[in-house]
Amino acid sequence: MRGFVRANDKYAILRAPCFTGVFVSGVGQNMFLQYQNKAAREDILGKSLQSHLVCEDGSGASSNRLIRGENAEVLRHLLCDSSVRGRVDLVYIDPPFSTNTVFRMGKERANTVSSSRSDSPAYADLLRGTSFLEFLRERLILIRELMCKTASIYLHIDYKVGHYVKILMDEVFGAHNFRNDITRIKCNPKNFRRRSFGSVKDLILFYTNSARYTWNEPRAALREEDLCRLFKKVDKDGRRYTTVPLHAPGETRDGSTGEAWRGIKPPKGRHWRSDPKVLEELDRCGLVEWSANGVPRKKIFADEANGKRLQDIWEFKDPQYPSYPTEKNIDLLKLIVSTSSNEGDLVLDCFCGSGTTLLAAEQLGRNWIGVDQSEQAIAVARKRLAAEQATVFRAKADYDFLRLAPSDA
Ligand SMILES: C[S@@+](CC[C@H](N)C(=O)[O-])C[C@H]1O[C@@H](n2cnc3c(N)ncnc32)[C@H](O)[C@@H]1O
Repeated sequence: MRGFVRANDKYAILRAPCFTGVFVSGVGQNMFLQYQNKAAREDILGKSLQSHLVCEDGSGASSNRLIRGENAEVLRHLLCDSSVRGRVDLVYIDPPFSTNTVFRMGKERANTVSSSRSDSPAYADLLRGTSFLEFLRERLILIRELMCKTASIYLHIDYKVGHYVKILMDEVFGAHNFRNDITRIKCNPKNFRRRSFGSVKDLILFYTNSARYTWNEPRAALREEDLCRLFKKVDKDGRRYTTVPLHAPGETRDGSTGEAWRGIKPPKGRHWRSDPKVLEELDRCGLVEWSANGVPRKKIFADEANGKRLQDIWEFKDPQYPSYPTEKNIDLLKLIVSTSSNEGDLVLDCFCGSGTTLLAAEQLGRNWIGVDQSEQAIAVARKRLAAEQATVFRAKADYDFLRLAPSDA
């Protein structure tokens, strides 16, 4: 098979342009990536600090923090802070995707597609192959130590490297804690003259820290066309509805749901969904529809339907005029934050860029920590946070702004 050579029972070599020297090994059901210079977990966690954190703006005691600095070092600082270690409820990260690109922004625009060479660099995404994988793995190991038992992590990545990163996530968080790989439709169809299909998606890997995790079931509103398809009937008051059987599979041996109601026994192999007394009450309230030949069904009204379950393909296109290159759609972040955290919880984004995650957390009443090493990213994030806080009439921005300073400074 091209691109994938099986070397022996234990190892397989993945040959991709920049990922030569990456092996997949397996022990039981667990898969691992093997490559040169892969550091031991203990060495990653045991590295000593090279700097200190300085509070530049704020009280120094706020529950929200924006930190400018290299994130592995910042994460190590946070590990020394008992108010953060083991207390982060939700992590979203959108790291560089190993695109071999320098992302630029000018005064007029931050749009990646139309950036100019004269625009100043916002950040460089130049790590390739195993250096990229190890960069990410180091940060994932540090992040996991910060997460509480019920925490979740969402990692945004693209399809060129996503399959390698999935194995890293399995290693760090456990394959049993994998919940979803979410396909995110990120843009409109493209019309490039490439001899392949247009690419309109990226990927979000969703893992939790254990089997018991925060989950606020999200529901998607039904569209008009769904309502017409699913609720075909209209009653005398103009309300759309549909009907469902009043019985369900399985026979009741001697409970009331196996008995006759209004002289009708449930069909063979089935039982009434509710006790006949409840069925009587439903009928009294006008919630049972009787067919011409006397078969009862329950009415379900469109205006009482609780939306539909969300699936793992999400359409959240990124802003057309972003304030920062690779800025993500805030509604995407609001969905993640509201589903996987509660009010007052702590949300971390250590590749925060223009602060989209922090804004979503702020708007939804969560506490937050954002980290980025780019001066431009921090400037944009501060501007967006100030605009957000102005809308809620806060006199002073409610967050501490910190930066890393060398230890000998
Ligand atoms: C894809 S962008 C994040 C965009 C963000 N989600 C948004 O909505 O604006 C990745 C960010 O990671 C930052 N970054 C990359 N490596 C970093 C590191 N080692 N430490 C801190 N920040 C880093 C870059 O400066 C960049 O702003």
